[in-house]
Amino acid sequence: MTSDAILEVEDVSCAFGGVQAVDHASLTIDRGSITGLIGPNGAGKSTMVNIISGHTKGQEGRVVFAGQETTGLAPYQVARRGLIRTFQLSSEFPNMTLLENMLVAPRQVGTKFWNAMFRKSVWNREEYALLEKARHLLVEFGLYKLADEYAGNLSGGQKRLLEIARALMADPTMLVLDEPMAGVSGVLIDRLVDHILELNRSGLTFLVIEHDLEVIDRLCENVYVMAQGSVLAYGPMYELRQNESVLEAYLD
Ligand SMILES: Nc1ncnc2c1ncn2[C@@H]1O[C@H](COP(=O)(O)OP(=O)(O)O)[C@@H](O)[C@H]1O
Ligand SMILES: [Mg+2]
Repeated sequence: MTSDAILEVEDVSCAFGGVQAVDHASLTIDRGSITGLIGPNGAGKSTMVNIISGHTKGQEGRVVFAGQETTGLAPYQVARRGLIRTFQLSSEFPNMTLLENMLVAPRQVGTKFWNAMFRKSVWNREEYALLEKARHLLVEFGLYKLADEYAGNLSGGQKRLLEIARALMADPTMLVLDEPMAGVSGVLIDRLVDHILELNRSGLTFLVIEHDLEVIDRLCENVYVMAQGSVLAYGPMYELRQNESVLEAYLD
C-alpha cells in the first residue's frame, strides 16, 4: 500500500449466479481525495461499493482500509474503522423524525432501542452529546427546522442531505456516496456539492459514484471508469473524455 492511499481494493471479483458483477477490479483511493466512479448501468459500481463496505462478500481479492485488511468484515465493523457509505436509494426511516433518524445512525441498533430511549426521562452524558451532535449537523445541513418532521415527508433532495448528515454522526474518515444526486434537483445539487467540498477541505476522503458528469467535474480530480465489472480507466475527466475505450463504453 502506498503511503497516501486510504483504501486499496485489490483484484476483487463478485458473481451473482451467472452474472459477473465485478470482475478482477482494483482501485486505489488517495487519502484526502474526492475520487469519482462512473460507468454505465450494470457496470458493477454499486457491487464494488458493497464489497468495500462489507454489504456484499466478494469471491476473490482483498480490501485494505486505513492500513488494515477489511476483506469479509461485516458492515458495522467496516463502519467502526471509519468507512461509511450511503445507498443509491435513500435509506432513512420514513416513520421516524429527522432527529430520530440522526440518532439511529451511529450505533446501527434497531429502532426499538431508540424508541425506548426517547421515552426515557433521564439521559446520560453520552446520549446528550449525541443529541447535540445531531442537532448541530441538522443545522449545518439546513434541516433543523424540519427536525420533528417525519423523514418520509422530505423531498428527494432533502433525503439526500439527511443521508449524508446521518453518515457524519459516525465520524467517518471516508465516505462512499452511491449516486448522491439521484432524485435531487437544481439548488439542492449545489448545496450537496458545496457540503462535499467543505467536508473534504476538513479532511474527509470521498468516493463518489455519480451519473451527473457536471457534478463529477466539480468534485473530482480523478475518476475511475468501470464497465462490465472491470476498471477501464483512471484519470482526470479531461483525459477520460479523450479515451477511446471510455467513449465507447460510456461517454458517447
Ligand atoms: N444482489 C444481486 N443479485 C443478482 N444480480 C445482481 C445483484 N446486484 C447486482 N447484480 C447484477 O450485477 C451487475 C452489476 O450491478 P451493479 O453493481 O448494481 O451495477 P451499477 O451500480 O454499476 O449499475 C448487474 O448486471 C446487476 O443486475
Ligand atoms: Mg448502482
